[in-house]
Amino acid sequence: MSLTTFPGAAAPSDSPFAKVTMPALGEMKRQGKPISALTAYDYSTARLVDEAGIDMILVGDSLAMVVMGLENTLAITVDEMLHHTRAVRRGLRRALLVADMPFGSYHGSVAEGLTNAVRFVKEAGAEAVKIEGSRIELVRALTEAEIPVVAHLGLTPQSVHRMGGYKVQARTVEAVEQLKTDACALAEAGAGALVLEGVPREVAAAITAELAIPTIGIGAGPDCDGQILVFHDLVNLTFAPAAKFVRRYGDAAALMRAAIEHYREDVEHRAFPSDEESYHLPQAARKALDAPEPTAKLRKV
Ligand code: KIV
Repeated sequence: MSLTTFPGAAAPSDSPFAKVTMPALGEMKRQGKPISALTAYDYSTARLVDEAGIDMILVGDSLAMVVMGLENTLAITVDEMLHHTRAVRRGLRRALLVADMPFGSYHGSVAEGLTNAVRFVKEAGAEAVKIEGSRIELVRALTEAEIPVVAHLGLTPQSVHRMGGYKVQARTVEAVEQLKTDACALAEAGAGALVLEGVPREVAAAITAELAIPTIGIGAGPDCDGQILVFHDLVNLTFAPAAKFVRRYGDAAALMRAAIEHYREDVEHRAFPSDEESYHLPQAARKALDAPEPTAKLRKV
């Protein structure tokens, strides 16, 4: 091996600037340090999220809904997910980059899942892939192929038709037992972390206590090892009432709407652009062309 670049090499592994890796997430669990995670789908948001010190960034297939305006996550393709993962990759320095495997990209066979996961690593720079459901053989195969896996159980949006809608899962004793069994089997098969979505707090707490790998909750209560939210939920860009588990930390919609409306008004009133925001001919060329001096009226006030 020859080290050409080594992200985070300059920072010791316990420094807040050290590159986050999948083993580092396990270490955070052992040390009792909460893991922060957010989705991102493009370069600029990825930069903001990374620079804010978020540990794990997921290019979630939720982008089908919040970016592409689709009704659910099912239609998004591997190529579309790769396109967004590449954009996010360019914005990251520290956070662990996880790419969501979209519906249909791993449901046919383990071989198909492996082939598609390799594309996320090779073509988009993902450091781990996330897969929904209890797919033990696939997790084992990916782990053997050196691809770290984030598993995802509970309310798995790719199962929306089977679940009959987006509903809280694991509400009966049998369902809780099944979830625990699946979680243990996924960890045993090599998953490096487990997203628990839309499950009762008590269930997430029990699984978190039982597993050696970190749990990352969304709608799963405060006892998980980490938390993840959809970026657009966090900053109010979803055009819909927030789910019970969402906390809005900002109102980007209000900020952006005000800026856009202000711009439109300025254009309509010829208040934008000003003379200072314009390019000018050099004086000699202006004289030779007999071009008028910029009028004071057009100068910025
Ligand atoms: O697609 C996504 O954003 C997700 C998170 C909600 C975990 O799967």
